[in-house]
Amino acid sequence: MQEIKFYRGDAVPLEMHKVRIVQKLRLIPIEERVKAVSDAGNNTFLLQNKDTFLDMLTDSGVNAMSDNQLSAMMVADDSYAGSATHEKLENTLTDIFGTKYFLPCHQGRACEHILAKVYVKDGDVIPMNYHFTTTKAHIGLMGGRVLELHYPEALEVESDNPFKGDMSPALLQKAIDEIGVEHIPFVRMEAGTNLIGGQPFSAANLIEVYDICKRHGILLVLDASLLADNLYFIKVREEAYKNAEIREIARIFADNSDIIYFSARKLGHARGGGICTSNRDAYLKLRGFVPLYEGFLTYGGMSVREIEAIAVGMQETMDYHMINQGPIFIEYMVNELKRRGIPVITPAGGLGCHLDAMKFVPHIPQSEYPAGALGAALFIAGGIRGMERGTLSEEREADGSEHFSNMELLRLALPRRVFTLSQIDYAIDRITWLFENRELVGGLKFIEEPEVLRFFMGRLAPVSDWQDKLVAKFKADFGDSL
Ligand code: F0G
Repeated sequence: MQEIKFYRGDAVPLEMHKVRIVQKLRLIPIEERVKAVSDAGNNTFLLQNKDTFLDMLTDSGVNAMSDNQLSAMMVADDSYAGSATHEKLENTLTDIFGTKYFLPCHQGRACEHILAKVYVKDGDVIPMNYHFTTTKAHIGLMGGRVLELHYPEALEVESDNPFKGDMSPALLQKAIDEIGVEHIPFVRMEAGTNLIGGQPFSAANLIEVYDICKRHGILLVLDASLLADNLYFIKVREEAYKNAEIREIARIFADNSDIIYFSARKLGHARGGGICTSNRDAYLKLRGFVPLYEGFLTYGGMSVREIEAIAVGMQETMDYHMINQGPIFIEYMVNELKRRGIPVITPAGGLGCHLDAMKFVPHIPQSEYPAGALGAALFIAGGIRGMERGTLSEEREADGSEHFSNMELLRLALPRRVFTLSQIDYAIDRITWLFENRELVGGLKFIEEPEVLRFFMGRLAPVSDWQDKLVAKFKADFGDSL
């Protein structure tokens, strides 16, 4: 993309694909948007797609697929055992990662479930660069706990650190000394660290962390769900790899980990997941649970059509011009928001653009879920569906008290190859309007709060009539415009 210069001077994110199948969008009037968000309990997870204009909830399972992926789905071999489709994906993963074994699972969290079942026991500690919601929940269910060993910059909203997803090797060494290897079944590194803004780690960091793990005989488990973004960032941000092929960088990830798992709803642009390893002992331990929880070893709960699509999508992920589209669009959005003084995570990461609700709506206390409130407000302002990544996405402490999140983010995911630049400009416009009217946004309170992963199904209400005031201001500023 960036090799193509524009005569007008500034860089324009330019797609290296064309759109061949489209889905109609609808932007409903603001009165209907406020009703839709209220019917959804102010939880963007519960909104209906028919009411949503730009769905920036997630990039999970909603990235645009290629013509080659779609055509591969037609040739899928659905035999229960000995499926040629399974072999195709297994061979593809061996080709890319050099790993010997592949265990299919229906999605990323299913891999986490099996990994936790096999390795985590009561009182264990799992060091990681940062947690992911489902990872933490599975470890917790087995009686283990997560220990985050990032550098302080990981939690700084504005930063010029290119690798905020790095783990501190010194903190890892200290944790091993204090906790003891017998209570650390594995160390987890998450590529493209989701909850802190899709921030990558460097290859140098992974190599250093793996070195420590090897010395102590501790397994390193790589969550490769957001690997595509991380591969891109290593190529463009890490001097030593600027001339490396994406395939070579992928091998560095594989050579410096013992077990790789991924959500193929993200990696490979389809729907599924799986675990790759060359460690026979790990393979045998994990294998037993796949037929029990997922399905037979040839499909692991996935449709064979999706498996075909993942195999093609994985090879396409090795193309720099395919994986750079997301991060370059995100960078454009982040830079435009920053130019307008809107608080947003920097440097631009992968996955999406992340608004900092602590600074956007500083008058809302964490106990009233500022990022969740901002999500409801942005839906009212523009029919844009984001995802709360803050206190609402945390679980309560054992005593029932709130666990206030380090960051209060509204994630606006950019599913790859889905939105056009004018749609991104529309989102920037409505976010700018909301920022200028931010004092009108108020907090939320739970009216129905599930005990586990409450952010998926919980229902909330505004603490005051702030949503009516926001609608009135929109009408005053935009008149009859949607
Ligand atoms: N690990 C990471 C880093 C993820 O981002 C996700 C999912 C998972 C594991 C779990 O995978 O959804 O296939 O079960 N992230 C989605 C998101 C849900 O919207 O960010 P899954």
